[in-house]
Amino acid sequence: MEYTHIPVMPVELVRFVESSAHRGSGVLLDCTVGEGGHSELFLETFKDIRIIAFDRDGAILDIAKKRLERYAGRINFINDNFTHLHQHLESMRSGLHYVLYDFGVSSFHFEKSGRGFSFAKDERLDMRLDDGTESAYDIINTRGGKELADIMFHYGGERWSRRIAAAIVRARSAGPVATTGELAEIVLRAIPKKFHVRNVHPATRVFQAIRIAVNDELGAIEKSLGDAYDLLASGGRIMAISFHSLEDRIVKETFRRLSRGCRCAAEPRDCRCEPKALVKLLTKKPLRPEVDEIERNSRARSARLRACEKV
Ligand SMILES: C[S@@+](CC[C@H](N)C(=O)[O-])C[C@H]1O[C@@H](n2cnc3c(N)ncnc32)[C@H](O)[C@@H]1O
Repeated sequence: MEYTHIPVMPVELVRFVESSAHRGSGVLLDCTVGEGGHSELFLETFKDIRIIAFDRDGAILDIAKKRLERYAGRINFINDNFTHLHQHLESMRSGLHYVLYDFGVSSFHFEKSGRGFSFAKDERLDMRLDDGTESAYDIINTRGGKELADIMFHYGGERWSRRIAAAIVRARSAGPVATTGELAEIVLRAIPKKFHVRNVHPATRVFQAIRIAVNDELGAIEKSLGDAYDLLASGGRIMAISFHSLEDRIVKETFRRLSRGCRCAAEPRDCRCEPKALVKLLTKKPLRPEVDEIERNSRARSARLRACEKV
């Protein structure tokens, strides 16, 4: 079978696993198994590793199950959001040795899912990774103009968010905006031509923003990282790959708080946590892919990898 997604930063991830106190043996939690590329790499490279693999999208999880069936006995699959780690893994508290996050969606979602993740295909607006209640169609067609503008500004950094939101609201008065093609066209027309950037579709940021909102992607990361820390054994490592600054900021701040002993959800003024390091930072700055990896896989271009180790 042909797989759509090329796993990013494989060399750097293998290095973090083999250089840990657990030396590539033990249990790895792959929170975002996708088509199973990273998990396959670990199962191949480390003969003593076992994997617990999460994905909230049942369709892509089925692909990973098939791809990795020759490792049955060394891998278990869980079709759920990584915000529910404790529900599934409570009995493994302090028993995991590595946790991997590879945030966002897979090339499979853009190219094959048929769920409207990409403006490159004309599909019904959906963008859900699971059976969450609100789709992209619902958000685009029911939210007020200000709310739409805020989503595009905060999750996509879209400077023309107000204009685009007003154009969506206008278009809606003639009937729902139902497809990716219709949305892309509205955005294209709303942004003045002289601000179109060569080789970047003007709707790129809007599509990212709506997808993040549909799946509450940032809220999920914020909730999950602390839970992953609880599940780690001493010397265990968390590795997190982000693809934009919003994801990376959450990882950076969570790791930094843990390194200062703080278990609070966000830096509160009246934090009473004991100032005793809970993790050691393994990356002061995020690692970036080497040039040759970006040449082979353009999607790796924006990847940033951070890692920390439980003290
Ligand atoms: C970048 S892809 C992972 C690719 C994978 N590492 C590979 O090598 O094939 C991200 C995956 O995470 C899944 N995902 C996104 N948010 C999730 C969440 N909150 N919980 C569980 N899975 C999630 C997506 O469905 C997608 O399959």
